[in-house]
Amino acid sequence: MKFKTIIEPFRIKTVEPIRHTTREEREAALRKAGYNLFQVKAEDVLIDLLTDSGTGAMSSAQWAGMMQGDESYAGARSFYRFEAAVQEITNFKHILPTHQGRAAERILFGSTLKAGDIVPSNTHFDTTRANVEYRGAEALDLVVPEGRQPDLIHPFKGNMDLGALERTLAEHDGQVPLVMLTVTNNSGGGQPVSMANIRAASEICHKHGVPIFLDACRFAENAWFIKVREDGYADKTPKEIAQEMFSYVDGATFSAKKDGIANIGGFLAMHDDNLAQRCKNMLILSEGFPTYGGLAGYDLEAIAVGLHEVLDEDYLRYRIRSVAYLGEVLTNAGVPIVQPPGGHAIYIDALAMLPHIAQSEYPAWALSLVLYLEGGIRSVEIGSMMFGQQPDGSEKPAAMELVRLAFPRRVYTQSHVDYLAEVLLYVNGIKEQIRGVRIVDAPQVLRHFSVRCEPLYGELIQS
Ligand SMILES: Cc1ncc(COP(=O)(O)O)c(C=O)c1O
Repeated sequence: MKFKTIIEPFRIKTVEPIRHTTREEREAALRKAGYNLFQVKAEDVLIDLLTDSGTGAMSSAQWAGMMQGDESYAGARSFYRFEAAVQEITNFKHILPTHQGRAAERILFGSTLKAGDIVPSNTHFDTTRANVEYRGAEALDLVVPEGRQPDLIHPFKGNMDLGALERTLAEHDGQVPLVMLTVTNNSGGGQPVSMANIRAASEICHKHGVPIFLDACRFAENAWFIKVREDGYADKTPKEIAQEMFSYVDGATFSAKKDGIANIGGFLAMHDDNLAQRCKNMLILSEGFPTYGGLAGYDLEAIAVGLHEVLDEDYLRYRIRSVAYLGEVLTNAGVPIVQPPGGHAIYIDALAMLPHIAQSEYPAWALSLVLYLEGGIRSVEIGSMMFGQQPDGSEKPAAMELVRLAFPRRVYTQSHVDYLAEVLLYVNGIKEQIRGVRIVDAPQVLRHFSVRCEPLYGELIQS
């Protein structure tokens, strides 16, 4: 291309105002929310990077598709359109729509796991882990050692540790009903998995007679990283790469709220007829008839169009570049982030940034609160608040203390990112004054969603 500036490959037809608040208002909002950003009202947030899930802007083609939604209970036209769109990319025989990704996980694990089983993954996402543990099984994270070193630059830090996978399958013969592989590896920093790794993990699993499933939420972003980073893929389209990724595995769980660019939805897909029948029975029990699975016909239409749009090269180039751009600004200013920047998010390494806060005082949680307090930015902690609570109720520090700034798809522009950078650099300048938090009240599972906290020393920022 003649010009090097990468622009947002869309123009804006509908806008939604966002609201500035004062620091005092944000301070009061935090207190009311029990120092938990999940409990803060969205209208009190200026730039919402809590998640890239379900928060994307739909295209005019998606809205037009929704008007064509067929709301028939059984055999709706919209289902067949959805099924064809999913099959074109994945080639799986059975496509079960679900209301979101975790429903696909619950149905899959509910149909395959029993107490005492083990489910290896590169890194389980929190809902995946919770759904495995809910069945009394163990969720085992086997990401490559490079994936655990935030500042190390490596092209595929989401890769599965193949030696560890081989050993696990050999040592626990008969105890592993399936293996998961998360693309991209959200909890590990949004890092991609290489095609070579998917292929090799699949070979190991199949040698041991164990099926392997992709947690495919961000399959298109993963495909883009393969295109630009892995030898032999530069001339292939993202769609061809995605098709190859799915060709090595036996099934997939998918949240259409990510790379479906839809506000709700997901699917569970597989080749195995037997397993599909068991899963369909559970689907009917809790989600709905297999041709709608808890979704409206118009949702199925939006996903069908979104799956096509997400593989557009201009879109993926802009998407990955806008995240990398923020990463570069932060890196140049000395803010420690997981390197290289992931596909959907920047992950600040709070352990490196705030070494004066012990993990038992939740440094990443505290940092995310300060970003809100100072700049109205909502992020999410991926650290000991999210993962520290063990199934037996005990506490174990997480491997990393990260603050994730996840970018909704097609929502924010360059100037929003510049504002973000300004706030982040300001907070980096006062980092020595930031203090930790303590838990006041927490539920038994997935505590980060509703935990109530308070600043350990009265204030988040000590003057
Ligand atoms: C890697 C991964 N798997 C599964 C899920 C669960 O999907 P959902 O939120 O649609 O239930 C998410 C959601 O963020 C995710 O990032």
